[in-house]
Amino acid sequence: MTTLNQQVKIPKHVAIIMDGNGRWAEAKGKHRVFGHKHGVKSLRKAIAFASENNIQALTIFAFSSENWQRPEKEVNMLMELFFTVLGSELKKLQKHNIKLKIIGELTGFSERLQKKVFEAEKVTKDNTGLVLNVAANYGGRWDITQATKKLAKLVATGELDADDIDEELLSRAITLHKLPAVDLMIRTGGEHRISNFLLWQLAYSELYFTDVLWPDFDALTFQSALDMFSGKERRFGQTSEQVSLTKSESN
Ligand code: IPE
Ligand code: IPE
Ligand code: MG
Repeated sequence: MTTLNQQVKIPKHVAIIMDGNGRWAEAKGKHRVFGHKHGVKSLRKAIAFASENNIQALTIFAFSSENWQRPEKEVNMLMELFFTVLGSELKKLQKHNIKLKIIGELTGFSERLQKKVFEAEKVTKDNTGLVLNVAANYGGRWDITQATKKLAKLVATGELDADDIDEELLSRAITLHKLPAVDLMIRTGGEHRISNFLLWQLAYSELYFTDVLWPDFDALTFQSALDMFSGKERRFGQTSEQVSLTKSESN
C-alpha cells in the first residue's frame, strides 16, 4: 500500500496474459470452454478498471500463435467466442469511448472473423478513451519478424540504407509503437513465463504474476498489481542515486 507522502504512480500501458481458464473449469468438473466463456466476464472487469483508473492502453493476450496446436474443438470454440464477443461488446466499447485494435497475424483467421474485426476497429477508430489492443494469433517472434520484413523491403527498394537501421527504426515497425511503453505486465494462472507475448515491448516492464486464475480475476487483483507497480523504482539501467537526483531536479 502507498503512504500519504508517497506519490501513487499509475501505469500508462498495462498488458495482461489472461491464463488459467482451462484449469478453472476443470476444477469445477466442466469443459475448458466453460472457463473461456467465464473469462469474458473478467475481461469486462479489467477493461472497466483500466478505464476508471485512467490507464491509457490495455493490451490483452487472447490467442497465441501457438494456441492453434490445441484440440480442434477448443480452437473452434475460441474462434466462435471471439466472433460473438466482438459483436456483443461493440456497443459497450462505443459507449465508453474505447478504441479497439487487434494485433497479430489476422490472415490466419476466417474471412468472416477478419471482417468482424475490421468492422469493430472501424467503428471505434475515433474514440479517445482507453486503447484496447487484443493480441490474437499473436506471437512476439512473429511481431519482430514482420517488422524485420517491413524494413528489409525498404532496403530492397533502396528507400532505406541497411546501416541506418537502429533500435528506434525497428521499434517503429513493431506493433504498439504509437502507444506509451508497456509499464506493467500481469499474468494470471500461476505460470512465470512470457509464452511468446510482447518480447520486444516488455524489455523494461514491471512484471506481476499471480496464482489467481483468469475467470477469478477482478478489480482487487488488478489493484494489487497497481500497488506493486506504484512501489517500484524504475531505474532503466541507472543507479538508484541517479534516479532520485533526476526526480528531485524535475520537481
Ligand atoms: C488462457 O487460458 C486462455 C487461452 C490461452 C485462450 P488457458 O486455456 O491457457 O487455461 P489453462 O492454462 O489451460 O488453465
Ligand atoms: C498464453 O497462455 C496465451 C494466452 C493467454 C492467450 P498459454 O496457456 O497458451 O501459455 P503456455 O502454453 O502455458 O505457455
Ligand atoms: Mg494456459
